[in-house]
Amino acid sequence: MDLDGLDPNRMPRHVACVMDGNGRWAVKQGLPRTEGHRAGEEALFDATCGALDLGIPYFTVYAFSTENWRRPHEEVRFLINVIADRLLTRRRDQLHAMGVRIRFIGRRDWRVPRWVVRRMDEAMELTRKNTAMTLTVAFNYGGRAEMVDAVKAIVGSGLPASKIDERTVRRNLYDPSLPDPDLVIRTSGEYRISNFLLWELAYSELVFTDVLWPDFRREHLAEAVAEYQARDRRYGNAGSHRGDEGIPG
Ligand code: IPE
Ligand code: IPE
Ligand code: MG
Repeated sequence: MDLDGLDPNRMPRHVACVMDGNGRWAVKQGLPRTEGHRAGEEALFDATCGALDLGIPYFTVYAFSTENWRRPHEEVRFLINVIADRLLTRRRDQLHAMGVRIRFIGRRDWRVPRWVVRRMDEAMELTRKNTAMTLTVAFNYGGRAEMVDAVKAIVGSGLPASKIDERTVRRNLYDPSLPDPDLVIRTSGEYRISNFLLWELAYSELVFTDVLWPDFRREHLAEAVAEYQARDRRYGNAGSHRGDEGIPG
């Protein structure tokens, strides 16, 4: 990939994507919404290859939210099949050959079919030792559900309230080894978070693009990274352009 214009020393360590706009993409082409999900899976693979080429160590994608169960049964079934059949079966071996480690975050509740859980476990086990990149798939994921589950785990551990701090919460998230995202990208021109990584994105840079997810390619990822590199991350500090020459005394 053309790295021109990107600073290799300022690559984000973790990029997360809200892959949105599959349905609108399909409708625009006169196709059923499900075709948008199929095309979205192709886009996911291309973006993953792009992240790998850019040397981004952690790439996370929002594939299915805890709210997406509200969709018509047929669409939910199709979405789950796309993830379990295409991504976790056909792509799994390709991703493994590329050295990608596959992980999942989300609730493994009764709504997730057992065969899907099995495929998830198999993909994780197969790719466990890979080191080129970590692809985390947020499946049946909700940021609020994650916090509720963390609170339950902490209370269940019997830890006294006085001992609880931010590190305690972090340790009880679905994947404590996942660093906070530096960059969160949302496609399809929607300016919202939709319950994605609520705890983790406290200081993430947000990039919104009008591109519909099935049209998203590695070039769009590189563009978002370029936008990220132009940002001034402050974490509450005064920043690099303080203008404090004007402050008396
Ligand atoms: C994103 O595309 C896929 C999922 C939410 C799983 P959508 O299906 O939300 O597409 P739009 O937003 O209706 O266009
Ligand atoms: C967010 O997209 C969830 C995923 C991409 C999996 P949605 O399309 O479900 O979000 P809303 O409903 O527009 O907020
Ligand atoms: Mg949507």
